[in-house]
Amino acid sequence: MTAPLILLTGATGYIASHTWLALEAAGMRVVGIDNFANSSALVLERLRQLGADVSRFEQADVRDAGALDRVFERHPIDAVVHFAALKAVGESTAQPLAYYANNVGGLITLLETMQRHACRRIVFSSSATVYGKPERLPIREDSALSTTSPYGATKLIGENLLRDLLKAEPSWSAALLRYFNPVGAHESGLIGEDPRGTPNNLMPYVTQVAVGKRPALQVFGSDYDTPDGTGVRDYLHVQDLAEGHAAALSYLLAGKGSLTVNLGTGNGVSVLELVRAFERASGRPIPYQLVARRPGDVDSCYADPSLAHELLGWRARRDVDAMCADSWRWQSMNPNGYAGEAGR
Ligand code: NAD
Ligand code: WQD
Repeated sequence: MTAPLILLTGATGYIASHTWLALEAAGMRVVGIDNFANSSALVLERLRQLGADVSRFEQADVRDAGALDRVFERHPIDAVVHFAALKAVGESTAQPLAYYANNVGGLITLLETMQRHACRRIVFSSSATVYGKPERLPIREDSALSTTSPYGATKLIGENLLRDLLKAEPSWSAALLRYFNPVGAHESGLIGEDPRGTPNNLMPYVTQVAVGKRPALQVFGSDYDTPDGTGVRDYLHVQDLAEGHAAALSYLLAGKGSLTVNLGTGNGVSVLELVRAFERASGRPIPYQLVARRPGDVDSCYADPSLAHELLGWRARRDVDAMCADSWRWQSMNPNGYAGEAGR
């Protein structure tokens, strides 16, 4: 049997680049597309160094139906993992149109193209953001859904669109994967998260403080209803997350149907706990200031990951110390991200 051929949209992004390796390790082949809106072509060189076959990559935009058609004409794609999206929560509030056009428009164009080419298996990058302000912890998949930002709305619309499609057309199958807080990097230190400008998320901010690019971390809120007053999240190693995609694809390719699952560890970790774990892993002090809450943030958000284990046999295996050690290896080997190599 030939190895399944999987299209990754947003293929050179943070999570997709790690997933590329995990899929090949699981015996799948990859076709990748990205428009480089938030990633560098140098990722491909790093993937090649790690042994990946990047020969089927091409620069393309998921909103470009003609370009997508050509990809499907050239390659007999068995399933798609749709990562391509804009993901900055604050920016989405300032630029809602860009977010809806890219994230919702891109998904519709992709699904229509898949329909035309009779490729009807998709893994969708959803997010814990669809739980809004969680009602109960740990969060189960049957919790109420709501959103607090245009970014979150694009993910919930994507989920609703897929649910409607699955109802209308039983020949489709979809895995809706709700990621919690992905951090960490490939253990080689060759690929990792490389945000443009000031990082929005905690871990890349911490690693940039550690490497001396920023003077101190601002801890957003120390009066939350949590053990130490700082926000609690479910940080998840990107390698575990990548392996979750391989498991979801195997499920779809085996014809087992559709599913919606949380991908998280189930452990709540506070900002200050993460900072201390990072200090231990890196041996670097992380100076910080306690400042006001960030608008829109919730006290605590962590998964009940049991359904993913039950359906996919998947479970996060790497702990917070490994997440910090691998984030630090990536940042210290690449203090300026991919740009450190040749500019981008
Ligand atoms: P990323 O920005 O590193 O990757 C997304 C990739 O998609 C980038 O390489 C970007 O250039 C590409 N892209 C964007 N719009 C495109 C378009 N129109 N056509 C082609 N390529 C396009 O982000 P990531 O953290 O790897 O996230 C991947 C997916 O996971 C996204 O859908 C994101 O919303 C979702 N997600 C991320 C997180 C997180 O915290 N990182 C959490 C939950 C869900
Ligand atoms: C984590 C904790 C902050 C930065 C976001 C999106 C979510 C999903 C994952 C895509 C919070 C605190 C942060 C800083 C801080 N993405 N913090 N100082 O907000 O849980 O989730 O990324 O789908 O949709 O909202 O992640 O890393 O931004 O914040 O104190 O400089 O760190 O307040 O408690 P968040 P985060």
